[in-house]
Amino acid sequence: MYNTKILGTGSAFPEQELSNHELEKVVDTSDEWIRERTGILTRRKVSEGEENSDLGAAASKKALEMAGLSAEDVGLILYCTNTPDKILPATACIMQPKIGAKNAVAFDLNAACAGWVLGLSVADQFIRTGAYKNILVIGAEALSRFINWNDRNTCVLFGDGAGATVISRAEKNEESRIYSTKMLSDGNYESILDIRFGGSRFPVTEERLGQPGQYIAMNGREVFKFAVRALVDRCCEVLKESDYMVDDITWFVPHQANIRIIEAINKKLEIPMEKTFLNVHKYGNTSAATCPTVFDEAVREGRVQRGDLVLFATFGGGLTSAASLIRF
Ligand SMILES: CC(C)(COP(=O)(O)OP(=O)(O)OC[C@H]1O[C@@H](n2cnc3c(N)ncnc32)[C@H](O)[C@@H]1OP(=O)(O)O)[C@@H](O)C(=O)NCCC(=O)NCCS
Repeated sequence: MYNTKILGTGSAFPEQELSNHELEKVVDTSDEWIRERTGILTRRKVSEGEENSDLGAAASKKALEMAGLSAEDVGLILYCTNTPDKILPATACIMQPKIGAKNAVAFDLNAACAGWVLGLSVADQFIRTGAYKNILVIGAEALSRFINWNDRNTCVLFGDGAGATVISRAEKNEESRIYSTKMLSDGNYESILDIRFGGSRFPVTEERLGQPGQYIAMNGREVFKFAVRALVDRCCEVLKESDYMVDDITWFVPHQANIRIIEAINKKLEIPMEKTFLNVHKYGNTSAATCPTVFDEAVREGRVQRGDLVLFATFGGGLTSAASLIRF
């Protein structure tokens, strides 16, 4: 059995920006409401012709560069997204030639916003058993393509972006590892955060075209309650299993959906906000991309050091929640 290490990180965002003030012109909302209820000031949006897999490829190249690896060293590409380039084939396969990872098998993982933490855990299993040595786990979204710009309950929340991580086998003398990951889904809540049309249950027909079911719909209040409850539970479970206390954590990396959700979780777990990485104000909720992008920022700023104890926690459509405790 081998230990797992995050060897490199990278992120990429579209250039096009959409501030709260610009949204005021699109829908009945205000900068003040969005700031106070979500903490979001602005977000990024893909341009015409720009693809989810373009963002994933750009983030992956940066992560590989940091890891000191070439794309040909990658054995597996796990692309975590719920806004794929196409229904078929996997966005992982569409991205693969964009980086030249010709020795890799590539597939997608859809666990909505929780995707990247689940992807980290899947990669961990392959590394532990020795099946693969270097795995790219990407969390990337082009959510703006699935936004109903008439729905103020959702259109102010989301943004586009990609975070990539190179997950590799740790050397014997290194302390890097993943101590524990806890994940849980409750499919009874499938309808409180979804995109109804476009799959095989409700294929897009002429009648359905342009209807709200083609876009993201959400019961925000219910998701909020679930998020706080579930994340506190998952975090307590990983800490218990790995025999660490909250005070031992160097850094907390929560899903960046809403600053109020993060503050509520921190309060319940008694994690100081100073130990918490945040980028929700700059990018909004980028779904599967939030944890790997905010972590990449912290790595590149030199805030996270090798040996730090890092707690990741996330939730999303499904509803699914997950937490993972790692030694960086
Ligand atoms: C969506 C969310 C920000 C709404 O905040 P809230 O404090 O729960 O607000 P409510 O839903 O209670 O709505 C309060 C009022 O604001 C209005 N409102 C909603 N969006 C608005 C907007 N963008 N601008 C102005 N008013 C808005 C509502 O219509 C409602 O008005 P009403 O009382 O007249 O019906 C919050 O519920 C949330 O963040 N939920 C979790 C969402 C999430 O994280 N999703 C992603 C999961 S991965």
